Amino acid sequence: MSITVPRYGADIYSTAAILDPYPHYAELRELGPVVWLTKQKVYAVARYAECKQVLLDDETFVSGDGVALNALANRLGRGTTLNSDGDEHALKRSVLAHRLTPKALRTMGRAVQDEAERIVDAAIAKQWVDGVQDLATALPTSIVPDLVGWPKDGRENLLRWAGATFDSLGPFNRHALGSAKASAEMMAFSRRVVRERSVLPGSMGADVLAAADENRIERSQCPALMIDYLAPSLDTTIGAISGALHLFSRHPDQWQAVRQDPGLLPNAVNEVVRYTSPLRAFSRRAARDVEVGGVTLPRNARVLVIYASANRDRRQWQDPDEFDITRDASAQLGFGSGVHGCAGQGLARLETRTILEVLATRVERIEPAGPASYAVNNVIHRFDRLPLRLVAAEGTAS
Ligand code: HEM
Repeated sequence: MSITVPRYGADIYSTAAILDPYPHYAELRELGPVVWLTKQKVYAVARYAECKQVLLDDETFVSGDGVALNALANRLGRGTTLNSDGDEHALKRSVLAHRLTPKALRTMGRAVQDEAERIVDAAIAKQWVDGVQDLATALPTSIVPDLVGWPKDGRENLLRWAGATFDSLGPFNRHALGSAKASAEMMAFSRRVVRERSVLPGSMGADVLAAADENRIERSQCPALMIDYLAPSLDTTIGAISGALHLFSRHPDQWQAVRQDPGLLPNAVNEVVRYTSPLRAFSRRAARDVEVGGVTLPRNARVLVIYASANRDRRQWQDPDEFDITRDASAQLGFGSGVHGCAGQGLARLETRTILEVLATRVERIEPAGPASYAVNNVIHRFDRLPLRLVAAEGTAS
């Protein structure tokens, strides 16, 4: 290891750091462009420029050996889109990419709108709500399982399984250990779904089976590919929607601005994802000796890319700790960047924007109504409780 690399001894995956990671990120950014995390024994890049460099150079910084911080998860994750490189990655992405093109999303827009209206009306009727359960969770869990084609009788565990899958991608700490069983259960269930061909007709899962039938992919890859789109689609979007509700409840002036001009919403969604960064960090392996920020990283080094820290780097953003829906937040890295940039971001944006749009027409004020708390998860940073009071707009039944 180069002696010029600063070291950071605190555990950024302790429960306290999971709940409040931002002071750690600030220290990492100040220490240098590359920092050695003594606890995890990996390099970390926490500044915007180096995060972007690593994400864009997918020939050097490979995902095929996994993006987790522990060997077991990296082995279990083999065969997913997330954990593949080059042509293999392009092939896997192509099997399902047509499902999430702008055209496909336009077709889904009506269903998302109807669900959002139903969910918002029910929440307004309650008035006192948990922003996580009543709003943020309700939309993705009503949209994505149908899209992916997960059988109706296997849905009660989905949220727990998907959260555990993210948790297992951290270092091999007690959070990851505790999640291993649930993550394995999800894979076992997915294998059964593929074996029994019990996916919903016309769904993404049906496309995956068809690709195997036509020998475009191997049948053994089907279970991983199904989980590929299900696992990352729930907690992340729940994080973005609940984060948005929290931020707008604390910034009523910006909520009024959105209510008056819904055209602000697409950029507001970028700003929400920048500010909240529901997915903290993933890693890469360096396939060769490579220079990053003046530091030479040795071949095979594991490098942690902290998206959430890049999104608060003052070298990139003015007043990065301020939430401001009028700033141009389009360069945010919350969805990653480069070839592995989030394949579901169109859907995530659609869901987040639509529920905010519906709320903006029907809810005058979103008020904090009690202490909020964060979920404890190695990779996902999101609320697990967010008490709010919704004050209906005049003319809206409540
Ligand atoms: C606000 C919500 C979301 C956030 C913040 C988010 C974040 C991310 C990030 C940071 C990556 C990059 C991984 C890397 O660099 O290795 C990623 C990849 C991915 N995301 Fe998302 N995601 C969200 C929603 C979704 C949804 C709704 C879906 C599915 C419908 C999805 C499916 C995927 C897939 C399949 C990949 C892997 C892409 C690849 O490796 O080529 N995500 N996501």
